[in-house]
Amino acid sequence: MITLALSKGRIFDETLPLLSAAGIEVLEDPAKSRKLILATSQPDLRVVIVRASDVPTYVQYGGADLGVTGKDTLIEHGSQGLYQPLDLQIAKCRVSVAVRSDFDYAKAVRQGSRLRVATKYVSIARDFFAAKGVHVDLIKLYGSMELAPLTGLADAIVDLVSTGNTLKANHLVEVEQIMQISSRLVVNQAALKLKQEPIRRLIDVFSRTVAATATATA
Ligand code: PRP
Repeated sequence: MITLALSKGRIFDETLPLLSAAGIEVLEDPAKSRKLILATSQPDLRVVIVRASDVPTYVQYGGADLGVTGKDTLIEHGSQGLYQPLDLQIAKCRVSVAVRSDFDYAKAVRQGSRLRVATKYVSIARDFFAAKGVHVDLIKLYGSMELAPLTGLADAIVDLVSTGNTLKANHLVEVEQIMQISSRLVVNQAALKLKQEPIRRLIDVFSRTVAATATATA
């Protein structure tokens, strides 16, 4: 049995076409079902639904043989014990700094003010501001980051931006882009040795599909 860890939402939705290219259909929709283990049309492949931030942990410790996870999550988790054969070029977005539209970010940075920054991405934020020489107090949050500048909890947030609609709806503006994000395939290193043939086959199909999609959209 091969176990693939996915998270609900964009990563699940955008992994489906890759599975489909390998002739694999997931037999249940996690948006409608409460089940956490989903069968597929390939009897020896199952999908487990986990929190996005838990995908690397499942794969690292062998709870899943492989998984799909964002570069943001991988940086925060660390990639020890994980083989990363492929950038799947899905769930693309960016990590950015955003502030209230009436907050003068450039001035605060220029004056060397100590910024209060709320984020789920503590490592990414710490490294980014350290490289700029900006002093920050980091406030760890687990969601709804956009609320932090609106309630006075923080001056700025570091969060994922895709369409920019969430920022706009909360009167925040993107002031710096930190990095581009896409999702990666991660594989448990022991599984790669023990289940080499089926895992290599999946990596090959995914790889060809990603290359074909890149050519088609070029
Ligand atoms: C992410 C992010 C923003 C939103 C940005 O949240 O935290 O809130 O997407 O997308 P947009 O630019 O297209 O509006 P997500 O829905 O992934 O859930 P999260 O709150 O658990 O991070």
